Amino acid sequence: MEAKSSEVSTPFLSSRDKHHFIDGKWRPSVSGESIETFNPATGQVLATLARGRKEDVDLAVSAARRAFEGPWSRFTPHQRYMLMLKVADVLEANFEELATLESLDMGAPFSRTKAMKNGVLQTVKYFAAQALNYTGTTIPNSLPGNYTTLTLKAPIGVVGSIIPWNGPMISMWWTMGGTLATGCTTVIKTAEDASLTALRTAELLMDAGVPPGVVNIVTGYGAEAGAALASHMDVDRIAFTGSTATGREIIKASASNMKRVQVELGGKSPDIIFADADLEKAVPGAAMGVYHNTGQICSAGTRVFVQRSIQEEFVARMVEFTKKIKVGDPFDPATQLGPVVSKKQMERVLDYMTIGSDEGARLVAGGNRLGGGLSEGYFVEPTVFNQVTNDMRIAREEIFGPVASVIPFDTVDEALALANDTIYGLGGAVWTSNVATMLKSIHGLKAGKLWVNCYGLADPAVGFSGFKQSGYGVKGGRDHIESFLYEKSVCINGD
Ligand code: NAI
Ligand code: MG
Repeated sequence: MEAKSSEVSTPFLSSRDKHHFIDGKWRPSVSGESIETFNPATGQVLATLARGRKEDVDLAVSAARRAFEGPWSRFTPHQRYMLMLKVADVLEANFEELATLESLDMGAPFSRTKAMKNGVLQTVKYFAAQALNYTGTTIPNSLPGNYTTLTLKAPIGVVGSIIPWNGPMISMWWTMGGTLATGCTTVIKTAEDASLTALRTAELLMDAGVPPGVVNIVTGYGAEAGAALASHMDVDRIAFTGSTATGREIIKASASNMKRVQVELGGKSPDIIFADADLEKAVPGAAMGVYHNTGQICSAGTRVFVQRSIQEEFVARMVEFTKKIKVGDPFDPATQLGPVVSKKQMERVLDYMTIGSDEGARLVAGGNRLGGGLSEGYFVEPTVFNQVTNDMRIAREEIFGPVASVIPFDTVDEALALANDTIYGLGGAVWTSNVATMLKSIHGLKAGKLWVNCYGLADPAVGFSGFKQSGYGVKGGRDHIESFLYEKSVCINGD
């Protein structure tokens, strides 16, 4: 018989209370309060977490500050590099457990979370290498006299990281990698809907030899623990991934002490299919560009622009592909899409399915919550709306569920104008075999991350940055590492 979510557990999950992880130790909330987190496949309580508030964040930030000024500051770049490689080994040895926790907590298929191993390990090792790989400069100056001018790079200090629930394991590494590589320390506020992978990872970091206080985790609600971290006077940098509305609050809170900010926010990314595209690749590519992770991806290509001459054929093939997708229990090996993360998220997605029909879009696949053996969980059908116009809410607002809006166009210029007519600028893609169309599109699209004849690929060496209301600050690549450092320019009198 197939393993099903309700029968799966791990020693970490069953062994102890899930407190905050501060200064290398498990600590209950100062207030003694806790919150519940759910398994989205069953709707049942999965674990009880500490409810963090300002006083817990204060303890975590103090621990991070002490580690930053103390033992961690004495690690050489080579020692940090070696330690991070050790961390990668420990993660590898425990990966099945981490993947299990991730799938139980946020609902992604276990086959997929297990397959994230290479991506996570490559990310950790990429950032490990960066520990050896940043430099200041010497600069020729025109000052009168004998002066040498140079720049030094120094770690910025305590990094606050507020991570979302849609991919906590990789999300945490996108800031923890740069933190460890540059000698910073961190306080991570996990999402209330999915905190377990991060908590277990923090414990594994200790096994690898990361000193206490370098990585601290505070769980709880955004408006309590998250807001306290974003406004904290002793946090030097804040990284946030989540909704544009909350991102705006983070930016406002950052003004308290002028902390540096990196925000990766919502999106409504265009995926443009030209008539000369190879539909064998474009149909599954565009469909999974929306449905991957049950649509809970910031850069999902949810506005599918299709050239009118192929609209009928494309939609027919996309519907056929969509109807074959297996939505099911994350621990069923045949499952391609699991549930959405929470009841709240499911209701949001179902609302948009109704809104699309009310707005006059034509529902051609999906549109419902799944019943039968899945009725206890938060399962929704992958959904296609055809004949959408770019002014409909389903084309303007981030749904964060497996809902595709197909919008027809005639010319390249029209496609680009429609694609750019959005408050967001996160991702975008074009499918074409024509070089001129491809070039015009990549120059014309106003978004931070573009794909051509593919969708959604990411690599830690390749920066990922939003534009417009999708946020700012780069994740990945050299500029990302620089954002954990501040520059001192030094003028030395040689006489
Ligand atoms: P959210 O943006 O409110 O939550 C993301 C994280 O921010 C969580 O850790 C949460 O605890 C924290 N947070 C919430 N309010 C905060 C505050 N005032 N100060 C500091 N931290 C705070 O998003 P939510 O409610 O989980 O999902 C709502 C929508 O946001 C989704 O439907 C989706 O459209 C979007 N979203 C986008 C993500 C992305 O990857 N860009 C990730 C998660 C959500
Ligand atoms: Mg959960």
